[in-house]
Amino acid sequence: MRNIIIDCDPGHDDAIAILMAIANKDKLNILGITTVGGNGLLDNVTKNALKILSLVDENIPVASGARRPLIREIHTGTDFHGDSGMDGPILEDPKYEIVSMNAVEFMYEKIKESTSKVTLVPLGPLTNIALLLKTYPSIKEKIELISLMGGGINVGNRTAAAEFNIYVDPEAAKIVFNSGVDIVMAGLDVTNKAMIMDDELEMLKNKGKISNFVLELLEFYGKGSKEFGFEGSCLHDPCAIGYLLRSDLFKGKMYHVDIETEGTITRGMTLADKRPVSERDKNVYVLLDLNRKEFVDYVCECVTKV
Ligand code: BDR
Ligand code: CA
Repeated sequence: MRNIIIDCDPGHDDAIAILMAIANKDKLNILGITTVGGNGLLDNVTKNALKILSLVDENIPVASGARRPLIREIHTGTDFHGDSGMDGPILEDPKYEIVSMNAVEFMYEKIKESTSKVTLVPLGPLTNIALLLKTYPSIKEKIELISLMGGGINVGNRTAAAEFNIYVDPEAAKIVFNSGVDIVMAGLDVTNKAMIMDDELEMLKNKGKISNFVLELLEFYGKGSKEFGFEGSCLHDPCAIGYLLRSDLFKGKMYHVDIETEGTITRGMTLADKRPVSERDKNVYVLLDLNRKEFVDYVCECVTKV
């Protein structure tokens, strides 16, 4: 059993990742969910997290965190995800409330009190995680792994060089990538391939209210994806959870990866050192490929069994 904390900004694909984790409670023990301003403003994405949990009757503690990046102004993903950060499905108002602790304190307490190490699963900008590692450096010893969605060593989406989550708070990403904690990076190299096609949405039809919710998420998200030139909808965030559940579906390689914070056109770039011989230690396992069909089937199987 792996203890996890999901740090997220739901977010259509964040929602699907959360549902995948909930569907696998025999393998993943979700200690809590923390939120960060990203796809939408903090209050909106936090409400979305609570709505998702209310839909599935899971009273998992939710703690809200950083409203904005460490240094820069917030840049939201509402152009893609809609004003709420998760437009499309209409969900009832949440029946749960956030805990009184801030996300950073919450993560610290949960990790400290856990009898075994904890895996962090960041699915949004890395602000909360950077604050945790800087405020409580000793906690690193109790972090098993950071399995994150972010970056791309060959491609960007927010800009030609940078993926959204890293672009929004590059200084936070730099802290996390240089923290010494083991990192698995589900970046665009793999998540752009984790695409669900329109005809595959059939797998979600008439399978109950949760699958229907996912279908509605993907119908909205799919429209945006097509405007950005994709044939289907990229299941970005589900890759970070999916790797913990089905690592056999993924292929990757160790690289030294660092974050560009100064560049005028490369802000937020995840630069991998691809030289055969390098003075830099390899610090990140970068996912590069996956079995798309099996992964899509698996995601659908998970969300239909919640
Ligand atoms: C990432 O940015 C957001 O749009 C998604 O939720 C995902 O975490 C993809 O670049
Ligand atoms: Ca996200």
